[in-house]
Amino acid sequence: MNTLDCLVYISRSKLTHEISAQELADIVKVSAFLNAQASITGILTLQDGYFVQMLEGAPAALDLLMIHLHFDERHEDIVVVARERISRKQTVGWAMIAPPANREPHSQLSKLLANPSASIAPWRTALLELVADPA
Ligand SMILES: Cc1cc2nc3c(=O)[nH]c(=O)nc-3n(C[C@H](O)[C@H](O)[C@H](O)COP(=O)(O)O)c2cc1C
Repeated sequence: MNTLDCLVYISRSKLTHEISAQELADIVKVSAFLNAQASITGILTLQDGYFVQMLEGAPAALDLLMIHLHFDERHEDIVVVARERISRKQTVGWAMIAPPANREPHSQLSKLLANPSASIAPWRTALLELVADPA
């Protein structure tokens, strides 16, 4: 059976506010291309000056991506806040997805950023809500 991990990290964005939406779109585009080759899927958002990214995939593939991420100068102070073994992905089909640029900040995600949970579940709930179609 294929082993799968889910991890969530937060990092401080170094993007200037004016161009952050376009830069985020660029990151998502490149990430989706690269992640597809590594069978990684996930969600990325930028809120309160922090990136929050949930990544799902093979443990070794996630370890390798985290090394690349540490060298990326578009962010700093990367902290993996939660990492768990999972039996199935919640982000199948999303090599990388971000909420629409005009989406309101998610209040629960702001609370999590202020007081990070070591459990995946609350992050996953907030991120899935952010990318869900508005009712
Ligand atoms: C916030 C953020 C999230 C990123 N997410 C991913 C990702 O999910 N997958 C990926 O391959 N690269 C991602 N990148 C880009 C990587 O940091 C890196 O540029 C990319 O893997 C190419 O690696 P290289 O520049 O060493 O060739 C992300 C970058 C940032 C700033």
